[in-house]
Amino acid sequence: LTACGSGGSSGGGGDDGITMGFAQVGAESGWRTANTKSVQEAAKKAGIELKFSDAQQKQENQIKAIRSFIQQRVDVIAFSPVVETGWDTVLLEAQRADIPVILTDRAIDSEDESLYETFLGSDFVEEGRKAGEWLVAESEGEPEVNVVELEGTTGAAPAIDRHTGFAEAIAGTNIEIIASQTGDFTRSGGKQVMEAFLKSHDDIDVVYAHNDDMGLGAIEAIEAAGKEPGKDIKIITVDAVKDGMQALADGKINFIVECNPLLGDQLMDLAKKVVAGEEVPQRVVVEETTFTQEQAAEALPDRQY
Ligand code: AHR
Repeated sequence: LTACGSGGSSGGGGDDGITMGFAQVGAESGWRTANTKSVQEAAKKAGIELKFSDAQQKQENQIKAIRSFIQQRVDVIAFSPVVETGWDTVLLEAQRADIPVILTDRAIDSEDESLYETFLGSDFVEEGRKAGEWLVAESEGEPEVNVVELEGTTGAAPAIDRHTGFAEAIAGTNIEIIASQTGDFTRSGGKQVMEAFLKSHDDIDVVYAHNDDMGLGAIEAIEAAGKEPGKDIKIITVDAVKDGMQALADGKINFIVECNPLLGDQLMDLAKKVVAGEEVPQRVVVEETTFTQEQAAEALPDRQY
């Protein structure tokens, strides 16, 4: 897409530099903390003035922040949408003000693709698929495998897509999702939902948590119930932040699908191009891997976040 933006340096940052308004989801997880740090450090390195806003996981706060960035006439707006839908109105306002928008980390669900210049982030469906494929291979020969799912924030792209990919991978196998509920991507949410699952189901074989933090919360609940995480109940998570990787290396988690939060440098590069009116790809997918317990032990010493 070609940027329809301010075409230079007329934004709130003064005469020479680029000013970016960044509307972050919140500080709900270790992943998010690493992502925020990456964006802030990359902006500094790139000489981009960053106006940072934390929406505390509320869409209304993000919309307010975007409106305030428009009012301040920033050169470019980047944001990671809390949920997928409900963005058209505010993004039209940005478009009318001639301020280009970059989606980072999470996508929106809109028919109007002209509302943003590019989307930089992971393929969440693929992440879910990798989690499911690992479990399918692991469960070969077993009569039946009961999974409880700790979902991310309701309506968020990673929650929707990680469910879709996982469900696709286990379709037609001996694996069944027997319960599924949101833990809002937080450790306390994961713990609470897992406590309830353990009370209502005595036949749980596997926890599939949409992020490490919820998986770590589930570990606490499982241990408090007198069971051994990683053995009595297997755990699969997504992210691969340090705490998750430590639990994996310790044998409490069984498999982690990586979701890379270090998007800052790529975001700043895209922002410079978009502001300069250069062509950028409509979609930039982040490369990611997976970790077994042995691989986690090996990778841990060099893990940055
Ligand atoms: O959008 C990325 C997801 O959001 C991460 O997997 C999760 O940890 C975060 O809260």
